[in-house]
Amino acid sequence: MALKRVMVLTGGGDCPGLNAVIRGIVKRAAQKPLSGDASDDWEVIGCVESFNGVLREPTEIVMLDEKTVEGLQIQGGTILGTTNKGGPFAWPVKNGDGTWTTVDRSDEMLRKLQYMGVDAVINIGGDGSQRISLGLAKKGLNIVGVPKTIDNDLSMTDYTFGFQTAVQICTDAIDKLVTTAASHNRVFILEVMGRDAGWIALHSAIAGGADVCLIPEIPYDIEKVKAKIEQRYNKRRGYCIIVVAEGAMPKGGTVTGSETGEVGYQHVKLGGVGEQLAADLKAAGVEHDIRYTILGHLQRGGTPIAFDRVLATEFGVRAMEFVIEGRYGQMVAYHHPDVVGIPLEEAVREQNLVAPDSRLVHTAKGVGIEFGD
Ligand code: F6P
Repeated sequence: MALKRVMVLTGGGDCPGLNAVIRGIVKRAAQKPLSGDASDDWEVIGCVESFNGVLREPTEIVMLDEKTVEGLQIQGGTILGTTNKGGPFAWPVKNGDGTWTTVDRSDEMLRKLQYMGVDAVINIGGDGSQRISLGLAKKGLNIVGVPKTIDNDLSMTDYTFGFQTAVQICTDAIDKLVTTAASHNRVFILEVMGRDAGWIALHSAIAGGADVCLIPEIPYDIEKVKAKIEQRYNKRRGYCIIVVAEGAMPKGGTVTGSETGEVGYQHVKLGGVGEQLAADLKAAGVEHDIRYTILGHLQRGGTPIAFDRVLATEFGVRAMEFVIEGRYGQMVAYHHPDVVGIPLEEAVREQNLVAPDSRLVHTAKGVGIEFGD
């Protein structure tokens, strides 16, 4: 019986449930042996801040055992730390003139992993992280991906963990906004996360009973939003709840955001569509008071709800089993009621976006929610 080593890391934006995955991996590695297991023993190490822990000198690696992960399914964030900048294929380096460029350090990292005696890697992350997994798998690394993102925008899994927690947080916010909106006869705009996919907005708008839901997949006509608002008022009295995803845009318009200027950050930092919408509605002639709230990173923080703890645990256990079985180059995915393996190439091929003609949009329209289309 050989002692083998698997390295676990978390990449991209954090997400409730990351720690539950880590716990699932470590606990599964410690069970000896469940039916069908190969006879190797596995020790689990954690790489700090995505792949940075291997790439940095000195390396930042932690031992993970059953004691370390005790009770971790409750805890938000990630005990390993994470980053959504850079990575082994695009490591930021400062030039002499103060500008930054990126270099490919993947080969160097693979050599280092070999030297460290790492037999396999489990990469817990979203689409960007799984693209890195794919690149490393192509170079021969034994790697298994675990999908995470509150946005639920990975197409090959029914759900990513963290999504339902984010939806619950948004729904709780709508519940609270309804009472103050009704008391003041106000229009309330709630800006939620969702860069390319409007799943959080759509689910929470239905759950919270919102009147308008604006998502990236359906550019909106401001006049239709205005008409819905007026329909919700009888002269002065009434209120209206609008849920808008950060990536939503008016017809013929663009997303609202700014460059962060942060080294290695490859996205526009979205934010401000709620404020912009309030201004546009005023300009379009809406006379009612309008307020907006940006939930921001509150949606990613705190403890995962039970559904996400269960899903994250299933992903962790299954990912470790893929390692035990030598099923590399795959991402674990939830296909109700099973957790299956999807080749990484397929896993990152396309995003999971809300189809404007989908059943859930139909349901939302069936309860009177306006999309502005
Ligand atoms: O990918 C999840 C997400 O929450 C997006 O919806 C959002 O645009 C992004 O992360 C924000 O990430 P950060 O501000 O942490 O870079």
